[in-house]
Amino acid sequence: MIGNFIYHTPTTLYFGKGAIRDLPEVLGRYGKRVLLTYGGGSIKKLGLYDKVKELLRDFTVVELSGIEPNPKYDPSVITGAKLCREHGVDVILAVGGGSVLDCSKAIAACALYDGEGWDLISGKVQAQGALPVVDIITLAATGSEYDMGCVISHTALCDKRGYLDEHLYPVASFLDPEYTFSVSKWQTACGTADAINHVLEQFFAAPHSLFNDGVMISALRSLMTNVKIALEKPDDYAARSELMYVCSWGCNGILANGAGYSGWPMHAIEHALSAYFDITHGAGLAVITPRWMEEILSDRTMERFVTLGKDLFGMDGAAPEVETAHRVIAAFYDFFASIGIPMHLGELGVKADKIGEMADHILSHDSTDEPWMFAPLSREALIRILQASM
Ligand code: NZQ
Ligand code: ZN
Repeated sequence: MIGNFIYHTPTTLYFGKGAIRDLPEVLGRYGKRVLLTYGGGSIKKLGLYDKVKELLRDFTVVELSGIEPNPKYDPSVITGAKLCREHGVDVILAVGGGSVLDCSKAIAACALYDGEGWDLISGKVQAQGALPVVDIITLAATGSEYDMGCVISHTALCDKRGYLDEHLYPVASFLDPEYTFSVSKWQTACGTADAINHVLEQFFAAPHSLFNDGVMISALRSLMTNVKIALEKPDDYAARSELMYVCSWGCNGILANGAGYSGWPMHAIEHALSAYFDITHGAGLAVITPRWMEEILSDRTMERFVTLGKDLFGMDGAAPEVETAHRVIAAFYDFFASIGIPMHLGELGVKADKIGEMADHILSHDSTDEPWMFAPLSREALIRILQASM
């Protein structure tokens, strides 16, 4: 069944080799004063920084560099918003991975807000507007380039928040797969694990439809096939281009139009892990995925596992359903391990003595125990998932 929905993604995508040639014209629509944001230097090694500066020769450019993975409210968002106000910035250009783009979206909203920016990010206050954000995304993972979300960490509060607002859609995103050739094996694997999890968070929902299932299974197949090629041959354009395009669909709703909403429980758990231990988002998700699946496996969820078994993994359906479900879970575990992700949280630096505290954090921030969720998770269930993941 396709239920009622409203779908709108106002972001224009410029996809493919050389796509950034249109950058000056696109930025020029919003003004001449640009805040250029980037991370720890990957764009300089790529030659992309020089290329962008050349394209922006007729613009006034202010820079904010050093944006970290799991971007921080303090100092990055606060400093960026201050720069926008001081220099009368018209438009923000984010060049980098999801963290740079997420930070830039938060800056865009905070720059137009007179109060404490964290009040916007934490949902206490609704933004009345945001500066336009244009991005050149250099890592296939989050889908931030095509969605209205950003995820920001507040180190002092030990908090990591997903902040969603219609004002945060980028006005334009440039996706040139060649800029992802230099992404390390680790980030390639973690980025793909993140995108796989985005699909699974939407697949495990009710109601669902043959059409949505088909799109999501194709997305999973493409991600799982192409990541292996990209790990083997980082400059394989065909593989990198599919990864980039499929990842961009992750979080803007298109995969789940008319379907039920799961509540994104694995992301709720992972955001607590990154808040406490600053781990790589996709790695945390990969570790949690099979343990979460084991926890929610029941008569009610069985059909989802069986469909994955048949349509994604080509299982013949001859085995008892519960056996198929366990084989699907094992297949995801083995897949993530095969792309180089250590499958235990302890190996990512997570300490077991924080499990109870993290479970409380998840419940207070994301209410994973709400009855409307596809598979509600109580405090005890969260603890079981985290313990099994150690
Ligand atoms: O900082 P630099 O030097 O740029 O290096 C980055 C960083 O160290 C590097 N990198 C990026 N592009 C590269 C490259 N290295 C070589 N070549 C390139 N072309 O990769 C490292 C990781 O970058 P990061 O931006 O942190 O990775 P990702 O894109 O996976 O973003 C992760 C963040 O996004 C959030 C996560 O929670 C996490 O904070 N998410 C955002 C979402 C959204 N906005 O919709 C949804 C996701 O579920 C996720 O929560
Ligand atoms: Zn994610």
